[in-house]
Amino acid sequence: MELTLEITRAWLSKFNEKIQANKAYLSTLDTPIGDADHGANMARGMSETLKAFEGAAFTSVSDIFKKTAMTLMSKVGGASGPLYGSAFLAMSKTAIESTEMTELISSGLYAIQMRGKAQVGEKTMVDIWAAFLKDLQTNSASKEKLNRYVEASKGILATKGRASYLGERSLGHIDPGTQSSAYLFESYLEVCDE
Ligand SMILES: Nc1ncnc2c1ncn2[C@@H]1O[C@H](COP(=O)(O)OP(=O)(O)OP(=O)(O)O)[C@@H](O)[C@H]1O
Ligand SMILES: [Mg+2]
Repeated sequence: MELTLEITRAWLSKFNEKIQANKAYLSTLDTPIGDADHGANMARGMSETLKAFEGAAFTSVSDIFKKTAMTLMSKVGGASGPLYGSAFLAMSKTAIESTEMTELISSGLYAIQMRGKAQVGEKTMVDIWAAFLKDLQTNSASKEKLNRYVEASKGILATKGRASYLGERSLGHIDPGTQSSAYLFESYLEVCDE
């Protein structure tokens, strides 16, 4: 599906709502296997992003993603700010040529991997980005599947990021970045249904 200015704004605004509503939950997830800041990081980043949207007169989907990337990179510390920031920056570049969702997510995933050096199966957001991309390519994306990917992260051993310091003890816990990315993709599916 091709993104428009309206869809893209609605998508990111819904993502912000989900992040704000689940701020405490995301930090709870980041407590046993991280430093309990993922909710605060994402909530700050997305509320600043929506604030930055207010005065802006966007003329392209690319501009919206660029503003999102710049805001996340400058306002969010930790791993997730630069990771989401690079994803949106890559999506902004891609959107100059194509606003097809599969192309956008594919470039976002590539950028996350370039920055974080994580492969699929290391209990990071890379896992759900890769799975969602496949679902988009095969026209089979759904909220149920996204929920399953979040649950599945429990069974994966962390070998990247802070959670990797725990070794075996990272098992049995949902990866917080996988959960926040699930909110991003869920928001997209909801906006498409409206
Ligand atoms: N190298 C990586 N590649 C992709 N995603 C990663 C990587 N490292 C961490 N993440 C994702 O970032 C999430 C943690 O984000 P958070 O906002 O808590 O940053 P952080 O506390 O600095 O994280 P960390 O200490 O794990 O680097 C993880 O749940 C994981 O999904
Ligand atoms: Mg953290």
